[in-house]
Amino acid sequence: MLNTKIANLLNEQVNKELYSGYLYLEFANYYADEGLDGFAHWYEIQAHEERDHAMMIRRYLIDNGYRVTFDAIAKPDKTFSSAIEPLNAGFEHEKYVTSLINNIYALAFETKDFKTMQFLDWFIKEQGEEEKNAEDQIKKFKMFGHDAKGLYALNQELAARVYTPSATGPAM
Ligand code: FEO
Repeated sequence: MLNTKIANLLNEQVNKELYSGYLYLEFANYYADEGLDGFAHWYEIQAHEERDHAMMIRRYLIDNGYRVTFDAIAKPDKTFSSAIEPLNAGFEHEKYVTSLINNIYALAFETKDFKTMQFLDWFIKEQGEEEKNAEDQIKKFKMFGHDAKGLYALNQELAARVYTPSATGPAM
């Protein structure tokens, strides 16, 4: 059995990951409207990944005998006036998600819940990658995004992203 506090935090994290997907779809809506279809595509794939994260945590809870419950997913509250703004917001959001995962990990460590620590190891690594991706995008945009040809190339690069499903099967 999982410690109730850890199980509840993981259940909340399911909602947070679904919200992340919702937020990134909102980014995609903005970029689609701006004609930056490569940027929109990149965030559509990111939204798929966030749903995968939610499903991985949901599966872990189910496999450990916990009754998962869903909460309402908040409306994304961001409005943007330039193409770099979603990138900055994405980086800030990923740092926030890292802090949430770290909090659960810290509690698992404190309570010697080695199984949950092992489960969360994947997420710790994933958050490192997601923060790096978000930061790299900002750097590239600052270098190339203010020139029409550079922005076109960047849009093409992001359009090439391929979705690879994360493992969402039984976690045990
Ligand atoms: Fe599920 Fe972007 O972290």
